[in-house]
Amino acid sequence: MRLLLVGFGTVGQGLAELLLKKEKMLRDQHGLQVQVVGIADMLKGSLYNATGIDLPAALETAKSGGKLSELPHKYKGDALSMIKTAEADMMVEATYTDIKTAEPATSHIRAAFEKGMHVTTTNKGPLALHYHELAKLADSKDVRFLFEGTVMSGSPVLNLIRETLAGSTISEVKGILNGTTNYILTRMEEGLSYENALTKAQELGYAEAIPDADVLGWDALAKVTILASTVFGANARPDDFPCKGITEITSDAIDAAKSRGKRYKLIGRVWRDGNEVKASVAPEEIDLTHPLAGVMGATNALTFSTDTLGDVTIVGPGAGRTETGYSALVDIIHAGGKR
Ligand code: HSE
Repeated sequence: MRLLLVGFGTVGQGLAELLLKKEKMLRDQHGLQVQVVGIADMLKGSLYNATGIDLPAALETAKSGGKLSELPHKYKGDALSMIKTAEADMMVEATYTDIKTAEPATSHIRAAFEKGMHVTTTNKGPLALHYHELAKLADSKDVRFLFEGTVMSGSPVLNLIRETLAGSTISEVKGILNGTTNYILTRMEEGLSYENALTKAQELGYAEAIPDADVLGWDALAKVTILASTVFGANARPDDFPCKGITEITSDAIDAAKSRGKRYKLIGRVWRDGNEVKASVAPEEIDLTHPLAGVMGATNALTFSTDTLGDVTIVGPGAGRTETGYSALVDIIHAGGKR
C-alpha cells in the first residue's frame, strides 16, 4: 500500500507514529506493507519519492518544528499537483477542516479518486458538504471512500454502522460529538476559566485550527450533518439545521445547573420525522443520573436507537492525536488489508 499523506499536522503525525509502531502487526496480521511515498503540508513543506520517503526523519523534523524541505526528496509543487502526478494507492486527507468551503480538501479527494486512489479522510468539510457526490465518484472509480475519523475520531462509529448495524433501521442518533467543548465544560466545572480550559484543549490537540468551530457548535454540526447523510441518506447541508454552541454558558450557570442535579452537555441529534430527516446541535441540561452526564473530558458518546437492538451506545475518544490517527490506520487496513 503506497500512501500519500496530505496534511502533516496533529492527525497526520499521529498516523505516522502508528504506522511506524505497528509496522510488524500490519504485516503479520493484515498482510499489509505500508509505504509512505509522499507528504504534502502547506506549512511544513512536501516530500515525494516513488519508492518511499524516510518517515521517521519526516516525523522528527515536523515534531521539532523544522521544515520537511530540509530533508532529501523535497517536492516543490502543491498537494494537488502531487496527487495528480504521484504513483500511490491511497491518500490520507488530513488537512484542517473548513466547514464553509470544504476546500482544499474536496479538490484533493476528487483528484485522488480520478487517479484511482482509495481515500481516507478525517476532514469533516468534504463529508458535510459533498458526501453524495464524492461517494458516487469513488463508486464509479471502484475505490474505497472511508472517513471513520470524521465522527468520534478513532472510536468505531461509521464502521460500526456500516458493518454490524447493517441489518437495523436507525430512527435516532444522539450524543456528545465534540471533544473540545466537552473538555471545556468538564474543566469549567472543576473551577478552570473558559479561556484556560480552551487553551488546554488546544495544547492537547483536541481543538480545530480555528477553535470557533468547536465552541460555536459548528464542528458538532458538521458531524450531525455527516450522520444525516451517511446514516439517514439525507441530502443535507450544515446550514439546514439549527446550531448553538457553548459560548453563553458561564461558570455560574454550570454551578447553578449542578445544584439542580443537572449538567450542561453539547448535544448533537439526528432523527427521522416522517419522511424528513431533522438534526440539531444545542447545549442541554442533562440529569446527572443520565448516562451522557457521566461522559467527561474529550470523551464522546453516541446512542443509536434501532428497531432490532433498542438503544446501542458507544462511548470513546472524540478527538486527539493518536485517537484520530488511529481512525486513518483502521481505514487503511480496511482498504488494503487481507479480508
Ligand atoms: N475539534 C474536534 C473536537 C476534533 O474537539 O471534537 C475531532 O473532530
